[in-house]
Order: sequence, then structure tokens, then C-alpha cells
Amino acid sequence: MNSSITSRRAFITQSALAFTALSASRVLGANETIRIASIGLGGQGSGNAGRMSKVPGVEVVMLCDPDTAALDKAKKNFPNARTTQDLRKVMEDKTIDAVVVSTGNHWHVLAAIWAMQAGKDVYVEKPVSHNIWEGRKLVEAARKYNRICQGGTQQRSDPMHDEVKAFLDAGSLGKIKYVRCNHYSMRASIGKQDTPLQPPATCDYNLWLGPAQDKPIFRTKFHYDWHWDWNTGNGEMGNWGPHILDDLRNVVFRDKITLPKRVIAGGGRFGWNDAGETPNTHFAYIDTGDIPVIVDFHNLPRAKGVKAPDVYLRRRTGSFLIIECENGYYTGNRGGGSAFDLEGKKLQTFKGDGGKTHAANFIAAIRSRKPTDLKAEVEQIHYSSAWCHLGNISYRLGQQYNREQAEAAVKDFQPWNDVIADFHEHLKKNELDDTKLDIKMGPMLELDPAKETFIGSTATPEALALLTRDYRKGFEVPQQV
Ligand SMILES: NC(=O)c1ccc[n+]([C@@H]2O[C@H](COP(=O)([O-])OP(=O)(O)OC[C@H]3O[C@@H](n4cnc5c(N)ncnc54)[C@H](O)[C@@H]3O)[C@@H](O)[C@H]2O)c1
Repeated sequence: MNSSITSRRAFITQSALAFTALSASRVLGANETIRIASIGLGGQGSGNAGRMSKVPGVEVVMLCDPDTAALDKAKKNFPNARTTQDLRKVMEDKTIDAVVVSTGNHWHVLAAIWAMQAGKDVYVEKPVSHNIWEGRKLVEAARKYNRICQGGTQQRSDPMHDEVKAFLDAGSLGKIKYVRCNHYSMRASIGKQDTPLQPPATCDYNLWLGPAQDKPIFRTKFHYDWHWDWNTGNGEMGNWGPHILDDLRNVVFRDKITLPKRVIAGGGRFGWNDAGETPNTHFAYIDTGDIPVIVDFHNLPRAKGVKAPDVYLRRRTGSFLIIECENGYYTGNRGGGSAFDLEGKKLQTFKGDGGKTHAANFIAAIRSRKPTDLKAEVEQIHYSSAWCHLGNISYRLGQQYNREQAEAAVKDFQPWNDVIADFHEHLKKNELDDTKLDIKMGPMLELDPAKETFIGSTATPEALALLTRDYRKGFEVPQQV
């Protein structure tokens, strides 16, 4: 305990005095090697380090993770890279040009801001923020320090999306009526223990925790399952949501809509009785001021005892984005998509590449020094992440659900009634009695998109508080970046 307090104090001094004063690490020649540090080496961080290292002219020179078990594993693939548990060491090292942040969500913004203050370019995983306020700070830092900052929604680099846009523009599907963003996947209980979980002995917990509150953890697995705790994660809405809603903003709205006008969400965490807080069944309506959007996440199976995720109408189970048009629909995910007419005849197939050139796109922009060369420039991914945070905020403000009231919240829009009907059907198929469940329905939040805040009667202190968080001392995202 004492040593963590000491290191925290040292950290405050260092972060306040040193990082803000540093200038760009070095000026890169056109053919010079770009030296990267990979911060966070769990499942995604290891993958990102590998993808970066395969881009010509890139070397992964430093591996950073508070858990030495993760470092030892990553070191096998990068035997020449230095290792550190402490991201301050990365920030201090002027020979490092860029960082890849693949930590838990609660660290994304602070790690990225420190890196940019230290003159480094940043690739930061999705959601690029843990809350909306800090997402804006991230964008401010990119602008102030003139840094290249790419969000980790890799499918932005997939040429397929341009093909889908061109197809929609050609008009054979007619006008878009509404979009349904689905993610039906199966997850399981994360367990619940009586005594707090001890972090692995190999992990510096103070550094792992960073901006998050020091609260006891009652789940059974330390890594990855932080997603289901609001203190560190953003639930499925903030996990798959940033991919799907980023595709939506890109393909349907062409990045012209920053934040929506109104958002309402409901759902709950059903059937598991575990230590997780985030909903495993979550639906939302998003009033964009333009084409309306329905979002729907299911983590329970199609039916009790069935080892398969839920299905949506005749559309493929794995579809994320279902664009319903006058003369047909488009349905697709990262692997590809298809367009159909109203009779279900396939009109065109689109093949996705999974966003495999996203790392190369980041490196190319580092060399050109043009943020406009980035496929996923951080401001756009801040917006897409914010849409997910809004879905979470409405849910977190939720009161006891009442079906009639829920249906009345969005009038004259059948897809909203449909998603509510699907919700009840899904619970029934899982043999869950909807009259006995703790179902939440949130308020219809109204936004001022330019100010990135709530307005009207929903701008309550509780709602406004969820636009940001209480940062742990020494790990505050700065007001002035
Ligand atoms: N773009 C994608 O397709 C995609 C896919 C999976 C995950 N992700 C994102 O990647 C991130 C990581 O996900 P994951 O599945 O690898 O989680 P994970 O829990 O497996 O790994 C996170 C790692 O970060 C480390 N970490 C925590 N604090 C750190 C710090 N201060 N400095 C350095 N490392 C720190 C942890 O010790 C852990 O090893 C998440 O934000 C997730 O949303 C993106």
C-alpha cells in the first residue's frame, strides 16, 4: 500500500512537471524507422504490436504492461524490445516516436494525452474514451500538440465501406428509412465471489488502475472482464458499439452528424447473478435529426440451453449494420456485406478485408504529418465512442421499466415497438419472467451536440455527472491539456 502511495506521489509530480513540457521526440526523415511502444499487451495489444511490426519501416522497441506476465508473453515475439511496467518510462523516452494504447478503456485518454504531451503520435483503441468529456480532451490534445492520432476502429481502413457508400448513392435501394445496429453474441456470467479478487502478484495494481477508483472487485477473472464494470469498462455498448456505430456514422451519415439530438436506452443484466454491472441486454433509440437509428445488444443465447446467439428477422446473425431502405436493405459486418431487394434477392455482395491496412494507414500519416490522411482521425472516433456513452448514460439513469411507457417514449416509429417486442421475446425464449426482472428504462436525453452536453429537463446533475468521472488522485485527465 505504502509503496503504491509513494509511487503515486512521484507520478503526480512527474506528470505535472515533465510531460507537459516535452516537445516532439524527434523529426523523422522520410525513410527513417518509426519506433513504437506498445502500451497494454493483452489480447488486442499483442495483436496490435504484431500488426504494427509488419508495416515496413516500423520497429516495436518497447513493450509496456503493469503485468509482467503479459510482458513475458509479449517479449517472446519481440525479443529485442525493452520492457517496462510503467508507462511513464515510455513517455520519458525521446527515441520513441509513437505509442499504441491497448489498455483497458479507463486508461485510453490519459495514456494518449501523456504521450501527445511528450511529442508522440498515438494509435488508441476503441472506445477512444471512457466518457464523453475526456474524449473531447483527447481531441484537444491532438490539436494542441499537432499529433497524429488514430482511433482503433480498423474497419475505417477497409475499402469495402467506400463500395457500400457508392452502392447506396447509386440509388437502387432507394431512400434509407432507418438503420438497425445489432450485436447478438453469447457471453457468460463473470462469477461473483464473497471476498475481493486479489490482482495477480505479477501486476502493479496501482498502474493498472490508473484513473479508475480503487474499489473491491468481486468478479473471478482479473483481466478482460473489467469491460463489465463501469469503473473500468463501458459494457457491450462500449465494446462492440464503437465499431458498429462508427460504421453507421461513416457509411450512413458520412461523418456529418457529430452527436445525436436525443438518445433513450433500456435493458438489464439478466440471468447471470454475477458481479458484472453493465447490461447484457441493451436497446436504444437514437434521434440523429436525420435517419433514425435503433441499437440492440443481446449477450444471452437465442433460447435457454441453445448454444447459439440470437437472430434478427431474416438477417444474418452476425450482422452489425442493417440499413433498411425503401426498395431493400443492406446488411453487413467487418467480414463483408450484402444488399437485397424487398423480395430477398441478393443485389450485390461486398467483401471486407477486416481493416488489415489500418496500422499502415497510421504509419503513413506519421510520415506525411497530415491528420487528414488518417482513416480514423481521433475526432471522428471520439464522436462514435460518445454515441455509445450516451446509450450507457440513459440506461444508467434508468428507472423501473414499464412497457407502455417505454413504447410511448418514441411515438409513431414502428422499429422502436419492434425492438421492445424483440426484447420481451428474447427474455421469454431464455425462460426469464419479465414481470420479475429488474428491467431499467432510461430517460430520453436531449443534447446540444456542439457543446457535447445535455440540455432541457434531462440535464440533471446525475446525467451531467455521467458525462465525466471522478478521477483517482494522481491520474486526472487534465482540464487544460
Ligand atoms: N479494435 C478491435 O477490434 C479491438 C478488439 C479487442 C479489443 N479492443 C480494445 O483493446 C483494448 C484492450 O482489450 P483486451 O481485450 O486486450 O483487454 P485485456 O484486459 O486482455 O488487456 C488489457 C491489457 O492492458 C494492460 N494495462 C492496464 N493498465 C495498463 C497501463 N497503465 N499501462 C500498460 N498496460 C496496461 C493490462 O494489464 C492488460 O494486459 C480495449 O480497450 C478493447 O476495447 C479492440
